[in-house]
Amino acid sequence: MNNVFLPPDLARSGEGELTFAGQSVSALADRYGTPLYLYDEARIRENCRLFLREMHESFPSGSRPLYAGKAASFRQIYRVMREEGMGIDVVSSGEIHTAASVNYPMDSAFFHGNSKTDEEIAFAMDRSVGYFVVDNPEELLAVDRAAARRGIRQKILLRITPGVDPHTYAAVNTGCVDSKFGNSIETGMAEEILGLALSLPHVALVGFHCHVGSQVFYEDVFETCARIMLGFCRDAEKRHGYRAALLDLGGGYGVRYVESDPEVDLSAKLRSLGRTVREYSAALGIPAPAILLEPGRAIVADAGLTVYTVGAVKRIPGYKTYVSVDGGMTDNPRFALYKSRYTCLPAKESGTGAPMRCDVVGRCCESGDIIAQDVLLPSGIARGARIAVCTTGAYNYSMSSRYNRFPRPPVVMLRDGESYVAVRRETPETVAENDL
Ligand code: LLP
Repeated sequence: MNNVFLPPDLARSGEGELTFAGQSVSALADRYGTPLYLYDEARIRENCRLFLREMHESFPSGSRPLYAGKAASFRQIYRVMREEGMGIDVVSSGEIHTAASVNYPMDSAFFHGNSKTDEEIAFAMDRSVGYFVVDNPEELLAVDRAAARRGIRQKILLRITPGVDPHTYAAVNTGCVDSKFGNSIETGMAEEILGLALSLPHVALVGFHCHVGSQVFYEDVFETCARIMLGFCRDAEKRHGYRAALLDLGGGYGVRYVESDPEVDLSAKLRSLGRTVREYSAALGIPAPAILLEPGRAIVADAGLTVYTVGAVKRIPGYKTYVSVDGGMTDNPRFALYKSRYTCLPAKESGTGAPMRCDVVGRCCESGDIIAQDVLLPSGIARGARIAVCTTGAYNYSMSSRYNRFPRPPVVMLRDGESYVAVRRETPETVAENDL
């Protein structure tokens, strides 16, 4: 099957064995069982280093990337982020605890979310989370109160809605005026919350944040956002004499899941964004603020692979063929949620027949439990064969569930030709462990 594109880190040996980060996928499945999440640690680090390097070289001084942990959040990821010098974006007490528990320096953590509770605000402050990205006036007042009780001034950014359409799927579109996130410039809400933030004694406003969407391919989107947000910074300076030190332009860089997705030259995109920021700030007559970006998917998606074992292969004459596997929407809900597309590959290719079109489906009690629709697999594929679903490092483990009480798969990391468990496999017993 030479018509399928191979994402980075994947190769076929002469005997038709699929390898990931140089290791045999079948051998890893034999050792750890399936379903199995694999991550290539070196690839995660390379993706971080690309952002770190480009942002250091092309952006105003003090600019840095923050890893958006929502894409994949477990302890080992935060150890890697600590070692690489990445900032992080956190959205819950669970993410905060996970990072803090491996000594991630929490002063480099940015706390997001549009509905932070008083308990979470306290939890984050008690763990010295560096920055709160404040979504709305009620939250701003709550943060000010919590900081007052502790006798501190909490550093904050305000989430602003620039009113930019990211041209991506609706569920991850967050930049438009009617978004549940942030304060839109167009409606005057942004100006209002800015005035409020500047009037409060226990918050220190360090800048602004926006995030318009995810799996975005048009570079225009980021550059347009940068211009609108820099314009907002200029207006803040004019109207309030307030100068933003930080401008966080969020995450969203798209990755290639299937051959028809565009190839992305991320370095070139980042350099161009850096140039836009510097040139446009100069044109507006303001000093360029330090820029933050919050990549999640671009850091971990192509570092991940999921391995399954095939169960039934159901051929419905005149209709379609289903290849069912031992996982499903519980470990990858992205088709069910977004109709996402994936590249699927057999772990062993030789002697397995011509390509056939099929749907790879899971074992949950729902017809929507599909992992990938209309993909090519060898026609000889049968119960017991292994298949790999590529580019599953982002939003698969992190959005996994225990629907039908299927235990979650383990996360196994690959490093220097070795492998190690980063998250243990759940068992029927651990699934019930909180039940009384
Ligand atoms: N910053 C903020 C404030 C965000 O809301 C997000 C993603 C990111 C950064 C990271 O975006 P990324 O670089 O990963 O695109 N579950 C969906 C994606 C949801 C994204 C939510 N926010 C999916 O599986 O496609």
